[in-house]
Amino acid sequence: MSGSKINVAKQAASFLEKKLTADMILGIGTGSTVNFFIEEIKPYSHLFKGAVSSSERSSALLKEAGISVFELNDINEIAFYIDGADEVSEDKSLIKGGGGAHTREKIVASASNHFICIVDDSKLVKKLGAFPLPIEVIPESRSLVSRKIISLGGTPLYRQAFITDQGNQIIDVSDLDLRNPVEMEIKLNSIAGVVDNGIFAINKPLTVLVSE
Ligand code: 5RP
Repeated sequence: MSGSKINVAKQAASFLEKKLTADMILGIGTGSTVNFFIEEIKPYSHLFKGAVSSSERSSALLKEAGISVFELNDINEIAFYIDGADEVSEDKSLIKGGGGAHTREKIVASASNHFICIVDDSKLVKKLGAFPLPIEVIPESRSLVSRKIISLGGTPLYRQAFITDQGNQIIDVSDLDLRNPVEMEIKLNSIAGVVDNGIFAINKPLTVLVSE
């Protein structure tokens, strides 16, 4: 498994190598595949300006790799956003958030010109939903949101002892009908108390790289 993740991280680094410029900012996701990508891009850190990170974990790794980390508020353009996923469907819709970082991941992805998703082939699915869908919620709203999710046909499970970088909680939801992922992404985000859900169907990756 980690061999496949290293393989796709190398593919992403070589895809980007020739495209890097001195003023370029990269967006960096979160997770073990991205951790390998940070290792692979480290030798090229002098060829681009720096990165906007989607999590405290990735920020720490980027800094260790000698890559400058910028706040999204201070950046006008992110050329490429590189991130993993928990599931990738045939139309490139994603489930993300296994690491609980999907809210900031979605923000940084949407701020980028080109979203590159990097996965091993175990993440490719015919239909989304075998992986429980992570939903970040304001802590006070957790029970209310869970009841609303049950009314949509979902089965919510509170992710114990986990707090997001924004100080919120995560509900992992099984059994939702995700045949129309755009509709469900919008519907879930319209529940009061939901910060964001892990469906990436409105803003999908332009490129999906899969380990060979
Ligand atoms: C974190 C994510 C990750 O991209 C997703 O969980 C995949 O992680 P990994 O690369 O460790 O398999 O969405 O919030």
